[in-house]
Amino acid sequence: MDGTLQLPATSPSDTDALIADALAGLTQPEKSLSPKWLYDHRGSALFEQITTLPEYYPTRTEAGILRDNAAALAALVPQGGALVELGSGASVKTRTVLDAGAHFGAYVPIDISRDFLFETSDDLRLRYPTLDILPVVADFTRPVDLPTSLEQTAKVAFFPGSTIGNLVPERAQALLAGVRAWTDTRAFILGVDLVKDTRDLVAAYDDAQGVTATFITNILERLNREAGADFDLDAFAYRASWDPDLARIDMHLVSRRAQSVSLGGQVVAFAAGEPIHISAARKYTADSLATMAAQAGWSVATRFTDGQERFAVAVLTPDPAA
Ligand code: AVJ
Repeated sequence: MDGTLQLPATSPSDTDALIADALAGLTQPEKSLSPKWLYDHRGSALFEQITTLPEYYPTRTEAGILRDNAAALAALVPQGGALVELGSGASVKTRTVLDAGAHFGAYVPIDISRDFLFETSDDLRLRYPTLDILPVVADFTRPVDLPTSLEQTAKVAFFPGSTIGNLVPERAQALLAGVRAWTDTRAFILGVDLVKDTRDLVAAYDDAQGVTATFITNILERLNREAGADFDLDAFAYRASWDPDLARIDMHLVSRRAQSVSLGGQVVAFAAGEPIHISAARKYTADSLATMAAQAGWSVATRFTDGQERFAVAVLTPDPAA
């Protein structure tokens, strides 16, 4: 999920899916909206802006770790092997690894946004003319089938951005187990954000300029724009909070007053102070990472971090016993 993602214009069926999904979430006892709807064209541009904010350390910290350790990471891929990226977006961070991987046989970017994936793949073919670029259109939060041509190829999976932390634990487990089940997979390079001072964590998700608040509120604007809803944007406040038990940041929009909103022919009532849960971002410790990995048949072979232990790029290797 790179912020440079530019989604194609919404088709009528996407609008139906947006309305159905939003209504399903807003009629639960604890209201929620799926974070996947944050990333329309405007949302993607806003996320891109977030990655440059002083408070939002993950993107630049991870990029630095990848740069500092590019040779070691590239060396995980055997001669002629493939680097397989989950949620490749514009593959910007990946170039650091590809630049150090003259011996790679293939790069397999997996992304749900077809047009964007194919555009990016064309750019990569120009940039890396000797590398096979084999894009796969798929939702990486569901089990992904790789092209059969890769069955005999040694593979290294790559999932940067701490996007694993945005999946509910069962989905994160399923993703790790799914990659573990691929044939001849030598390693899994996984970016994870680390537990740190609560103020720093909350600030990263509630910046002084209010860009994150605008980014999250865009989900309501999108429902107004694309689904004919009538959310009063000033009547919802953005709130980011740290849950120490679940080790995660929760992003909510809180109704400032009792109000009703119409959406897809239904009326949704909000109490004063009632939250809509939009997104969660789990943070890890060395222990919680190792536990999560072990449950899916992986061992943490190496953990590359920055000097301040803010973020980690972990190298998982298949646990032979699993
Ligand atoms: C792109 C999903 C990793 O959770 O840190 C940033 C999204 N949301 N600020 C994250 C996000 C609000 C970001 N991910």
